[in-house]
Amino acid sequence: MPSETASDGIRYEVIPIMTPQVLTILGSTGSIGESTLDVVSRHPDKFRVFALAGHKQVEKLAAQCRTFRPEYAVVADAEHAARLEALLKRDGTATQVLYGAQALVDVASAGEVSGVMCAIVGAAGLPSALAAAQKGKTIYLANKETLVVSGALFMETARANGAAVLPIDSEHNAVFQVLPRDYTGRLNEHGIRSIILTASGGPFLTTDLNTFDRITPDQAVKHPNWRMGRKISVDSATMMNKGLELIEAHWLFDCPPDKLEVVIHPQSVIHSMVRYRDGSVLAQLGNPDMRTPIAYCLGLPERIDSGVGDLDFDALSALTFQKPDFDRFPCLKLAYEAMNAGGAAPCVLNAANEAAVAAFLDGRIKFTDIAKTVAHCLAQDFSDGIGDIEGLLAQDARTRAQAQAFIRTLN
Ligand SMILES: NC(=O)c1ccc[n+]([C@@H]2O[C@H](COP(=O)([O-])OP(=O)(O)OC[C@H]3O[C@@H](n4cnc5c(N)ncnc54)[C@H](OP(=O)(O)O)[C@@H]3O)[C@@H](O)[C@H]2O)c1
Repeated sequence: MPSETASDGIRYEVIPIMTPQVLTILGSTGSIGESTLDVVSRHPDKFRVFALAGHKQVEKLAAQCRTFRPEYAVVADAEHAARLEALLKRDGTATQVLYGAQALVDVASAGEVSGVMCAIVGAAGLPSALAAAQKGKTIYLANKETLVVSGALFMETARANGAAVLPIDSEHNAVFQVLPRDYTGRLNEHGIRSIILTASGGPFLTTDLNTFDRITPDQAVKHPNWRMGRKISVDSATMMNKGLELIEAHWLFDCPPDKLEVVIHPQSVIHSMVRYRDGSVLAQLGNPDMRTPIAYCLGLPERIDSGVGDLDFDALSALTFQKPDFDRFPCLKLAYEAMNAGGAAPCVLNAANEAAVAAFLDGRIKFTDIAKTVAHCLAQDFSDGIGDIEGLLAQDARTRAQAQAFIRTLN
């Protein structure tokens, strides 16, 4: 099995060539999960699905099981498991049903599995991603919270156990595609000045700031370019998503915070760039469709069909760029501050944001209260107990409680 390993620096790339690849897909009922299955379905010779994990969308998961015939399917709890079992029994699908957080860890670390798509939303995706890293799997990482909450621990675990970490997030995938193949994490040695993440600016890039406190959840989840889950769509509207991506890039590419740039590029055609010492800037372009980064990582070292159409240059009127405005996007500023502070600050940022976005989507707080909640939690005392998963999850729980208490004062 040929593989590519950077010598002694950070190693985030291994090229597995095992046909078919045996996959566990965590978050299969979500937006990334469905895009992954779409790519997988185009290459039945290359991939076999070992396990699918959803949470509460039982009908969708049953349909996926009928098509992909995995050995295991995982859902949230006993009640959802019973409903899924009944649906599978009715069609004669032999998939075994499991439930709960431990089952996610089990299907992510099973011996038969070579690759794990980590596409659960939120910090709930962390233990299973970490389990895959402990078992040296090839990790297709969509769940950005894994790196935001536990970047140091996760990358160290992956490194120590020979796990490859391949970025699915479109920006990091773009950077990954234009970095030198032998990139080891030391920017200077590779002649790199900075990594530039592009951002669409979301649906409120030109909306009157005075109307921000009247923004509704339905308006916030309508992203101009990408079709995504509700939580990440709100994060795009606040630009917290870009903030989380900065922290992700910091860990993934071993890139100091001051070498990370954000540029607003509303057309979402350039997915990100790398600025080199000689004046070159290398970019990856494409239609905004997550099947491209998914196919890139799943197919390595081959380029495989993704189902995404060709970029039509005739249809592009202009590619424009602008600086982000922190008054419009205070969450981006908070994310920069958390990244620079380090320690438990990114974990606090993420937990507070998850609680606030859920409250906004439930209609309990205003759009502008999301940043207020995150700022409030970052201003509290928090421990540095981030050396292990238990410490991180305890901090995550404390921050969520603080966020909920603050949210109650907002009404
Ligand atoms: N969508 C994108 O274009 C995109 C791009 C880059 C990165 N990402 C990242 O990829 C991840 C997934 O995003 P998404 O847009 O695909 O989200 P999504 O559409 O909301 O899907 C989330 C998935 O996670 C499952 N899930 C929810 N809560 C869970 C829990 N507590 N335990 C286990 N599973 C749970 C859901 O199951 P049910 O639906 O069955 O309840 C669903 O399968 C996020 O971290 C996001 O930031 C997404």
